[in-house]
Amino acid sequence: MGHESCRLWDEDWREWVTDRARGLVLEIGAGDGVNLSYYHLDAQVIATEPDSESLELISEYEDNVTLAQADAENLPFPDGSFDAVVGTLVFCTIPDAARALQEVRRVLKPNGSLRLVEHVRASNRIGRALMQLANPVWHLMTGGCNINRDTLEAVRAAGFQVRQVNRQKMGLIVGIDAFK
Ligand SMILES: C[S@@+](CC[C@H](N)C(=O)[O-])C[C@H]1O[C@@H](n2cnc3c(N)ncnc32)[C@H](O)[C@@H]1O
Repeated sequence: MGHESCRLWDEDWREWVTDRARGLVLEIGAGDGVNLSYYHLDAQVIATEPDSESLELISEYEDNVTLAQADAENLPFPDGSFDAVVGTLVFCTIPDAARALQEVRRVLKPNGSLRLVEHVRASNRIGRALMQLANPVWHLMTGGCNINRDTLEAVRAAGFQVRQVNRQKMGLIVGIDAFK
């Protein structure tokens, strides 16, 4: 599969999010697998996704990718298994984001890396209030997405050390580079 041109910011953000992922890598909420062709070939990737129909779409993939059906809140892997975890546009949808982040932390090795690209709520008061107000309708219309999440704060609250934050589109899109 070729790299689709998803330019939410100046560089290709799917390239950014997968760039440091080496060794044994977990991707959560992989959807239809759009990130999978971006990983370095020396990364061994386990791509998880709860939705069986999406998983079927990615049933054939590169040799370095294995698929598994799983919610991020209940990851079927032992503690300290992964060198890196990657997720894109997924913490807006995971029903219990705090629990998912604890699970991500549990399965990461010490110093393991977490890279996410997520859309988040506005940082100014009015924008935040409008998003809060619109969220119930948005959630219904999109089948589970939330526009009122503060994923950066949630990552910090889960105990990760944040190394870099890449804010784009007036801060509504954030790239988060963190470690355990
Ligand atoms: C907006 S899509 C993003 C898909 C893909 N990561 C991308 O960047 O295109 C959100 C994804 O989160 C998945 N998802 C929903 N609930 C989840 C959960 N509890 N744990 C992990 N992924 C979940 C959905 O099935 C869907 O594939």
